[in-house]
Amino acid sequence: MTNTEPVVEMKNISVTFGGLIALNRVSISVRRGEVLGLIGHNGAGKSTLIRVLSGAQRADSGQIFIDSAETALTNPADAKHNGIETVYQTLALAGNLDSVSNLFLGRELRRARFFRRERQMRQAAQQVIERINPRFTNLQTPVEDLSGGQRQSVAIARAVHFQAKVIVLDEPTAALGPAETAHFNDLIARLKSENVGIVLVSHDIEQIMELADRLVVMADGKVISRVDAGEASKEQILSLLILGESSAPDKLLQAEAADPAADRGAVASPGSPASKT
Ligand SMILES: Nc1ncnc2c1ncn2[C@@H]1O[C@H](COP(=O)(O)OP(=O)(O)OP(=O)(O)O)[C@@H](O)[C@H]1O
Ligand SMILES: [Mg+2]
Repeated sequence: MTNTEPVVEMKNISVTFGGLIALNRVSISVRRGEVLGLIGHNGAGKSTLIRVLSGAQRADSGQIFIDSAETALTNPADAKHNGIETVYQTLALAGNLDSVSNLFLGRELRRARFFRRERQMRQAAQQVIERINPRFTNLQTPVEDLSGGQRQSVAIARAVHFQAKVIVLDEPTAALGPAETAHFNDLIARLKSENVGIVLVSHDIEQIMELADRLVVMADGKVISRVDAGEASKEQILSLLILGESSAPDKLLQAEAADPAADRGAVASPGSPASKT
């Protein structure tokens, strides 16, 4: 069941890099048990938006609400404390360390200041990784020697172990083969049924169609469309992306940007991408 109140809401987030406007008053929200698909061409601002959510990038302006309370996420630890776990495009794993160390990187279980609880960490890692990928048993192998799918499992296991309310995934299957991608898709469906909110950035339209409940389409740092995934065909979603590339009319973009709560249940018809209903 999807709760009605968003677990995370980002309102009017803007980020500039020097003269470049990477995000221009972008608003999104995600509820528990819901997958929000974030799509758009290269450079649209997808990664920047989720970096703000994961505390890795400061916004110039805008607000973030977690369970309806305005919350400052000034660094990645803040985001983690607030139940937001991110699996980055780059996975952010330490290649020379094994899976157990990666799972607990920076959050090691300690008895006293300098004594890590090795056995406890190994058991916990084994449990969570088994759940995510039952065929993955070589926990002592440095992650740089693992397959793409196994590395992905470690990155997601980290989010699951720390009981995220929201898991943010940036191009999670870009480096995976078809079998690993299918397994990943099953995992997302399972996490969703466990009431985790998921923000999924993907260029894989099939995957987005399979997993997302709602889609937010971005172009040039703005939201150009919001679509209920069940109501759009693959062709319609592709046409939204193409429209994004050739950049939507300014008037429509401004209308979208002006509505801070646009993400709350507002569904644009796929045929008229930036229209309001
Ligand atoms: N640290 C940075 N410094 C300067 N410019 C940046 C930085 N990070 C992102 N940008 C710029 O901000 C814009 C948005 O980039 P972002 O990476 O968020 O796009 P994206 O939608 O994730 O693209 P992709 O699909 O290629 O991953 C781009 O023009 C990018 O070059
Ligand atoms: Mg990106």
